[in-house]
Amino acid sequence: TDPAILRNFCIIAHIDHGKSTLADQMLRLTGVVDARAARAQYLDRMDIERERGITIKSQAVRMPWTVPADNAEIAEPGTYVLNMIDTPGHVDFTYEVSRSLEACEAAILLVDAAQGIEAQTLANLYLAMGADLHIIPVLNKIDLPGANPEKYAAELAGLVGCDPADVLRVSAKTGEGVEGLLNEIVKQTPAPVGDADAPPRALIFDSVYDTYRGVVTYVRVIDGKLSHRDRIKMMSTGAVHEMLEVGVISPEPVKAGDLGVGEVGYLITGVKDVRQSRVGDTVTSQHNGATDALGGYKHPNPMVYSGLYPIDGDDYPTLRDALERLQLNDAALTFEPETSGALGFGFRIGFLGLLHMEITRDRLEREFNLDLISTAPNVVYEVLMDDGSELVVTNPSEYPEGKIAEVREPVVKATILSPSDYIGTIMELCQTKRGNLQGMDYLSEDRVEMRYVLPMGEIVFDFFDQLKSRTKGYASLDYERSGEQAADLVKVDILLQGEPVDAFSAIVHKDAAYSYGVMMASKLKDLIPRQQFEVPIQAAIGARVIARENIRAIRKDVLAKCYGGDITRKRKLLEKQKAGKKRMKNIGTVEVPPEAFIAALSTT
Ligand code: GTP
Repeated sequence: TDPAILRNFCIIAHIDHGKSTLADQMLRLTGVVDARAARAQYLDRMDIERERGITIKSQAVRMPWTVPADNAEIAEPGTYVLNMIDTPGHVDFTYEVSRSLEACEAAILLVDAAQGIEAQTLANLYLAMGADLHIIPVLNKIDLPGANPEKYAAELAGLVGCDPADVLRVSAKTGEGVEGLLNEIVKQTPAPVGDADAPPRALIFDSVYDTYRGVVTYVRVIDGKLSHRDRIKMMSTGAVHEMLEVGVISPEPVKAGDLGVGEVGYLITGVKDVRQSRVGDTVTSQHNGATDALGGYKHPNPMVYSGLYPIDGDDYPTLRDALERLQLNDAALTFEPETSGALGFGFRIGFLGLLHMEITRDRLEREFNLDLISTAPNVVYEVLMDDGSELVVTNPSEYPEGKIAEVREPVVKATILSPSDYIGTIMELCQTKRGNLQGMDYLSEDRVEMRYVLPMGEIVFDFFDQLKSRTKGYASLDYERSGEQAADLVKVDILLQGEPVDAFSAIVHKDAAYSYGVMMASKLKDLIPRQQFEVPIQAAIGARVIARENIRAIRKDVLAKCYGGDITRKRKLLEKQKAGKKRMKNIGTVEVPPEAFIAALSTT
């Protein structure tokens, strides 16, 4: 395909602002799918994925579009090839988003005309601008009675730096304005440029595990040509793969002989694990391949760690299998076995962020039917010792005992968008989370963008929930990693009868250590049943106890209530007590029901 007729674009939008609906409408108008098939949202349909034996979910679709001759003032009449590339709209996947953007020349900024822009969308807009994409601002849902296109057109125009009149207005649902948008895409999106005679270089912007085909890798060709006869090389590792198939998605996969400059498509090599086909890597040919990879490859590094334990110890092998299965499709997921005195056998799992963690946990529970306990999430700390040695701590239990010179914690740049009424309460919240206000801008009269630098460790606790509840759900948050800072951190241990309970240890700021200790001790006091003997609960930093509670002893005579008589009732009670015992976890001589761990860990 002649690059001059190619237009590669993506859609940046907040959840529910109508990206899928708009994509469907475009597929219908371009004739790629007929109206009947478009009825159910095409790009999201899992059954179709199964039917075709390939994951066509989003990623990239090729659509022909003819600008009619009577439309000459809008765009040069003729037939064009549009590639719509999907961007994951997820706060933890900024890197994946940035690679999808690299594959495009333009981005549609799609915003609900009744809602305005959200923090996540704004963050992605900045990424797109940083990648030098042409931005096409579009307001969606203009058919809604509550739409306020005047207000939000001004907001978008201010952000993009255009005239409010140039903000397009569409209804993805009714189709109003969408043909005009397709013409504008042709007109405004620059055609791709690349060196057709150079050795091939293609950017991997997505890679998906498919049960039938193995890994399907989505690429954008920058230079040269990828042919189905090539053996290809992944430039980050030098691994060579046989190419089994190259093609484009429109809307089913269509085999192609090759992909040239500017083209977007998929390739299949028979590898079974997405870690062998990493987002951001450069694909070249084995023979006469390129020597310089495309810039910007980053190996995914986990930012948040948490322990995951099956509530029923027998589920451990199932959990391991489930994690291995998830990893096939999630190159960023890392895990290793871990043993906890309190929780038994489990895994230490690394995630890109909190949402990644939630999604993973949710999938493990739903798709694999597992009941899990997770320990409080923690970030990665760098600890510098007095003797000059340095170590990286991904688990509170690894926190060193000796003399510590400095602890460094990761920080993030956070963007919060909110109605201006809530500025006060947001500032207060960020203050308690050790945040530093970097700047504040009004997007419109009553909406404000606040920029903070915050310790990542404070965000992984309950920051997002608190932000939502303080702003009645109106504020939105986005964050990105932004280096490290030295901080006054300590490890707080929780001891039951003098035995530390590893699952409850936490690395917290010195000023928060006392309240963490008091909170955990009083929670556990209520959660752990009385034993035959008194059980002290202590919170300690090293050998220094900072909080203490006592569980008073009880003579646990379950039969006391039974006034002698009824023998069946007696037996029942005894059996019940026995069953209860079996599930208890023992900390030293103290028996703790698993529910106590779950409850104690749930709100920290
Ligand atoms: P995710 O798939 O969750 O990311 O959402 P999305 O951004 O793809 O939004 P989706 O297309 O699923 O639309 C969200 C809701 O808005 C759906 O109920 C749509 O029917 C509705 N919607 C989308 N576009 C329009 C529109 O132009 N007008 C109206 N009235 N509703 C729309």
